[in-house]
Amino acid sequence: MVSEEQKPPSLDLMKREFLIRKFQRDDLSRVMYINATCLPENYSPYFFMTIHEKFPETFLVAEDKGEVVGYIMCRIEIGFSNLKRLELTRKGHIVSIAVLPEHRKKGIGSSLIVDAMKKMVEYKATECYLEVRVSNTPAINLYSKLGFMIVKIMKGYYADGEDAYVMARKLP
Ligand SMILES: CC(C)(COP(=O)(O)OP(=O)(O)OC[C@H]1O[C@@H](n2cnc3c(N)ncnc32)[C@H](O)[C@@H]1OP(=O)(O)O)[C@@H](O)C(=O)NCCC(=O)NCCS
Repeated sequence: MVSEEQKPPSLDLMKREFLIRKFQRDDLSRVMYINATCLPENYSPYFFMTIHEKFPETFLVAEDKGEVVGYIMCRIEIGFSNLKRLELTRKGHIVSIAVLPEHRKKGIGSSLIVDAMKKMVEYKATECYLEVRVSNTPAINLYSKLGFMIVKIMKGYYADGEDAYVMARKLP
């Protein structure tokens, strides 16, 4: 039998050395810098700000010692479920997430997703999904650890021709 001490701590109980908070307008240039540093998929200021205006609760940043080191940006969409056949549903879509290289593997990526998913529930979403490059093992591991399953492959989804996995999970 697994004793209480041996159980992994729930994400809610993990001591965080960083702060997760809502994105603010002043964070835009820093978030765009993190996006450009970490990902080949980059967006205009207008794109970031439009998502923020529509879904402010699920656009979060991670702050470490007063410096923004990561972000997550999501949309709420209505469409066919990724988990149930031919069912229309309200879905939280993780559009972009990144953590600066020197701040990775400290639980920041997980915390950004967990906190964003809680807010998706407040927006009445019943599932969450995202696209990820099939070669992006760190991100695939992260999503799997948080209960996401690969539900689809999108052939040639990215501009350079790489395929994407669609990964999804139910929200509580
Ligand atoms: C993916 C990313 C956001 C993860 O952020 P992070 O803060 O390092 O994530 P966490 O510390 O919460 O890691 C949680 C889990 O993810 C997995 N993971 C994270 N980095 C990993 C790596 N380099 N190799 C393998 N698995 C990794 C592990 O399962 C890890 O759990 P563990 O620490 O118990 O082993 C970060 O690597 C990143 O910004 N990558 C570049 C941008 C990107 O790929 N975004 C996703 C696009 S779909």
